[in-house]
Amino acid sequence: MCGIVGYIGNNAVADVLLDGLKSLEYRGYDSSGIALNDNAGFDVFKAGGKLNNLFDVIRNDAQKIKNPTSGIGHIRWATHGKATIDNAHPHLSNDGKLVLVHNGIIENYKELKAELEQEGFVFHSQTDTETAVHVIDREYKKCGSLEEAVRRGVQKLSGAFAFCIMHKDEADKIIAVRKNAPLIIGLSKNENYIASDIPAVIGKVKKIIYLNDGELAVVTRNSVVVSDLAGNILEKKAENIGFNPEIISKHGYKHFMLKEINEQPDIVRKVLARHVKDVFSPVDADGVNLNIDWNKVENISIIACGTSLHAAMVAKYIWEDWLGIPVNVEAASEYIYRKNTTGKGSLVIGISQSGETADTITAVKQAKEKGAKILIVTNREDSSIVRYADSVLPLEAGIEISVAATKSYTAQLLAMYWVGLYAVEQRNSLSAKNLADLKQGLLELPAKMEEVLSNAEKIKQVAENLNKYKSLIYIARGANQASALEGALKLKEISYINANGYAAGELKHGPIALLDENMPVVAVLAPGITYAKMLSNCEEVKARNAKLIAVTSVKDKAAESLFEYILPVPETEEHLSPLLLNIPMQLLAYYMADSLGREVDQPRNLAKSVTVE
Ligand code: M6R
Repeated sequence: MCGIVGYIGNNAVADVLLDGLKSLEYRGYDSSGIALNDNAGFDVFKAGGKLNNLFDVIRNDAQKIKNPTSGIGHIRWATHGKATIDNAHPHLSNDGKLVLVHNGIIENYKELKAELEQEGFVFHSQTDTETAVHVIDREYKKCGSLEEAVRRGVQKLSGAFAFCIMHKDEADKIIAVRKNAPLIIGLSKNENYIASDIPAVIGKVKKIIYLNDGELAVVTRNSVVVSDLAGNILEKKAENIGFNPEIISKHGYKHFMLKEINEQPDIVRKVLARHVKDVFSPVDADGVNLNIDWNKVENISIIACGTSLHAAMVAKYIWEDWLGIPVNVEAASEYIYRKNTTGKGSLVIGISQSGETADTITAVKQAKEKGAKILIVTNREDSSIVRYADSVLPLEAGIEISVAATKSYTAQLLAMYWVGLYAVEQRNSLSAKNLADLKQGLLELPAKMEEVLSNAEKIKQVAENLNKYKSLIYIARGANQASALEGALKLKEISYINANGYAAGELKHGPIALLDENMPVVAVLAPGITYAKMLSNCEEVKARNAKLIAVTSVKDKAAESLFEYILPVPETEEHLSPLLLNIPMQLLAYYMADSLGREVDQPRNLAKSVTVE
């Protein structure tokens, strides 16, 4: 869940590392550090808290930077040990000659630590990572080769790791090695880069090598040699970097989150142009290998976490209706501990924006071992989860920097809608009229989303009136039950205001006890079979003096007096409504958090990809 970088070359090493870490901030921001190698030894700089603190440390200590030719860096999301300077990476061996940065978790660190302490190694941190330093250092002292020491050392570690490692006596190289955590090498003339993810090398290199699990790279200024852990040299293909540097700019928006919210109409337009071209043509899988016989699928399980889980909940509602196939939706972290009925006739769909979420990866791996067909829906086709895929469905949302997922959620919903309709056509499970209406509804979405976004100023005013409350409740029914959960999740994660989403019918079974004038209720109202019951629930809320905020696509003059505020979206078909109703809630959360001065793109305690179980 941390971000690591390495650089060897002629440019100002500290600046290159800091720049790389800046673009990996979405992976964690509890502490950071760099180690610079100037051939005489390492200079290590660390800071607690946000990366800006490390910039300050380095600015103040600039005179200490000699003439480094390589370096490694780290940005931390704390797992083992608090976010202190001692626990910040890089970590040094006891003789100060070996230094490393680590992303992942060493699961057997307690046993190793006990063993190493008995042998006289001294620990200076509470991290699991420090055991890796000493294990590799112990091997180095036996064999005298960094490459061999790393190869031997990592085989003693269980868990997940991506490491960048340097040794004072082999100053011409950085060793990169991975297992269950991402790592790439960026190639350039007379210099090479290592990073957890592509944003750290965007604009700096044109070609990258993806390291796979169990691969080790010896990276020097002019060469990259990749081998397996047995020492066999591997032929690795360098791939063109597929991202435009533009995507990591805020384009004038105050935050990435606001930029990403505003990108949604264009993303939907782009995806529809490929897959749902018009009302009469069949849905076009266009280059997506949907290697699934939809007539043979007996049951479907969708596994995901957080926002992606909410997308899965919407998909269950829609697909069971459209396809008539039972769909089970489960948090990946629960799926893995339960005897479930997944088997050969099952289709298991893993939804993960990052493709690096450990819970989802483990669950998908487990399902694959049981013989299920695996479809992965992800925004990162280069991510770890695709290893287990029979088919991969790319979201095409573009890189999402803000920790709070917005455009990727919309892209996940859209993916599930178009694939749902694709499956409908294979199974012939809806009438031609119904199918045509749904396609028409999808095609109208981008313009309707733009209409919602043009209402941002009004939503901002509502947000500024609501930010004084300590707690909010979100309610909805049907496909939008997930919209209520997602609206509440978005608010709490970036504003730290307590917000809970409920199926509106559940309110009377307990949560209604919370209602009074200090508990605003956001009611998500879609047209169709749930509308009348939603209005009754709103009446119940109003009777308890709670302020009601409607997010709705229904124009209903008679109901207007129920609501303190109405956040309208254009009229839309019931099943498609989650795609529109979610947007005002994204904006509401954004403006509430921003008006409270929160760090919207980097909420406390969170990270963009959660690579620990
Ligand atoms: O990358 P994934 O979609 O697997 O991530 C799952 C969750 O960690 C993620 O959706 C998280 O809940 C976001 N912070 C929500 O905004």
